[in-house]
Amino acid sequence: MKTVKSIHEVKEFVKKLKRKGKSIGFVPTMGYLHAGHLSLVQESVRRCDCTVVSIFVNPTQFAPNEDFNKYPRNIQHDIEVLGKEGVDLIFIPGDGEMYPKGYKTYVEVKNLQDRLCGGSRPDFFKGVCTIVLKLFNIVAPDIAFFGQKDAQQTIIIKKMACDLNMDVKIENLPIKREKNGLALSSRNKYLDKKQKKAALCLSRSLTKAGKKIEAGEKNADLILKSIKTEIESEPLARIDYVEIVDSENLQPLKQIKDKTLIAVAVFIDNVRLIDNLIV
Ligand code: PAJ
Repeated sequence: MKTVKSIHEVKEFVKKLKRKGKSIGFVPTMGYLHAGHLSLVQESVRRCDCTVVSIFVNPTQFAPNEDFNKYPRNIQHDIEVLGKEGVDLIFIPGDGEMYPKGYKTYVEVKNLQDRLCGGSRPDFFKGVCTIVLKLFNIVAPDIAFFGQKDAQQTIIIKKMACDLNMDVKIENLPIKREKNGLALSSRNKYLDKKQKKAALCLSRSLTKAGKKIEAGEKNADLILKSIKTEIESEPLARIDYVEIVDSENLQPLKQIKDKTLIAVAVFIDNVRLIDNLIV
């Protein structure tokens, strides 16, 4: 396994593999890796000849009041765990490598980027799409692996790749959770014991909603109400949004149908967590 910092080195590495006809799987991350990230890496290793993982805390997807500076980082640990997974290349660029002085170009996926998380984080998806497109151009993957944990992100990246005629297949893999239901997230590190317990209201509210839907409930307003009630019963929780939308165009739905995305964002004290369910 090779670890590199420069775009040039990645391009050279990839060029050699492509010449040999090897397929390339890619997992973009912001590091502080957990079993959710590793599930994407394992799928890439299983399906592709070579796997590239990037670790880059992307400054353009954080608003000035957000947690860019304190976002958890542990590169040594990340390299160690990736070493056990059969990864071929880790790309760990510095900020100046990805955004040199005078950087000017950004990518937007209109409309989709303004909904759900985009409502409370206005420039977030512009930053995500920009860095992911740059990384795709550098790594030139055949398949890129994303997690349903960030369902809107995966939907938007898929749309970008399609609209821009990119030769990459976007895979969406299931959410990895702790046994108690909490979706794994690097930001869970911010939670103390009490907050972690409170954070279970996200997955609990979604599980209950899923059961109601399985039992035949189709009325989206009723489902929304039950999710909100469940979350609001937790004193440390403050709802950012709860939405029931079409999982392709993210338009709100009145009736539950196939491929409905139920997404929640909740502050536990000052830590913003997201979770979702696709039914
Ligand atoms: P990050 O939050 O590090 O997540 C990297 C990938 O891991 C994303 O595709 C995310 O959906 C997936 N992931 C996170 N938690 C998961 C879980 N519990 N189960 C399954 N997959 C999970 O998402 C980003 O980084 C950034 O926005 C990035 C795409 C790297 C662009 O900067």
